[in-house]
Amino acid sequence: MNQTTSQHHAIPVIIDCDPGIDDALALLLAAGSSEIGLRAITTVAGNRPVQTTSHNARKILDLAGLHEVPVYAGAQRPLYGSEARCNLVHGEDGLGGVQLPEQRPIAGEHAANALVRLLQDAEAGSIELVAIGPLSNLAMAELLAPGILRRARRLLVMGGALRVPGNITPTAEFNFYADPLAADIVMRSGAQIVLFPLDVTHQAIMSADWIASFAGLGTRCGTAAAAMLKAYAELDPLLHDACPVAYLLQPRLFGEEACELQVDWRPGATEGYALARFFHKRRGFAPNVQAATTVDNHALLALVKQKIDTLS
Ligand code: RIB
Ligand code: CA
Repeated sequence: MNQTTSQHHAIPVIIDCDPGIDDALALLLAAGSSEIGLRAITTVAGNRPVQTTSHNARKILDLAGLHEVPVYAGAQRPLYGSEARCNLVHGEDGLGGVQLPEQRPIAGEHAANALVRLLQDAEAGSIELVAIGPLSNLAMAELLAPGILRRARRLLVMGGALRVPGNITPTAEFNFYADPLAADIVMRSGAQIVLFPLDVTHQAIMSADWIASFAGLGTRCGTAAAAMLKAYAELDPLLHDACPVAYLLQPRLFGEEACELQVDWRPGATEGYALARFFHKRRGFAPNVQAATTVDNHALLALVKQKIDTLS
């Protein structure tokens, strides 16, 4: 069953992303899940420049047959600072060199404006907003329309490193480091936030056999997934961005802890550092984030494979 046949019963979801290979797998996981009704994809500068991440998102949606789901391109750089902070973990093209056709155009509206419009037009508390790249678009939407992020049911955010070292600096995870001011604005927005930091995504480990098994599906999506993941796993064998989407499908795969979270956005050695205070029996504890800190990796990998196996 594909998305369109079950969309009216499905959870309305928007994914903000920076494809990126683990983003691409998260998009395929969502596309293969009839429980999820993708309303739109918004893209941001992150792993690669926003022009690249936008065309990559369009290619992945077209690969999955989701030609009607719009892609809105967003922020070209962080709120503070003049240059986008990219990386080459996903290759120059952001998809590990895997060539994919692009069959539909990128929409003309800016992602931040699209997020404001879509959240304003939807029933309050209905849309699940998944954010798996730097948070520039979400912060811009919040600055354009204060309170707009609270209209989402939840924000499911991949980012931060709470009790573990960072992956781009010793103290910072890439998505928070790439736009730390945006991350702090979003964490303080008052929205219901479920965070998937490196603490949990470091447990989402892909094996070479699991990656190779996608080629055995005998489908265009399986073959593309195997090729992209093979390239990506050489540098980062972790399924960061699939975690928030898997949580939408099976939240019990994850263990969670409440915490007070703020992000250091000041330029310097701790830029992008996520300062988390976990629950202590002290008065005045006011958590703003539910942080996922454990995952059943075996079940997670099985879920991702099962859902992507439904695609052609
Ligand atoms: O730190 C991991 C995050 O940075 C993932 O979202 C990956 O795609 C990159 O954006
Ligand atoms: Ca990402």
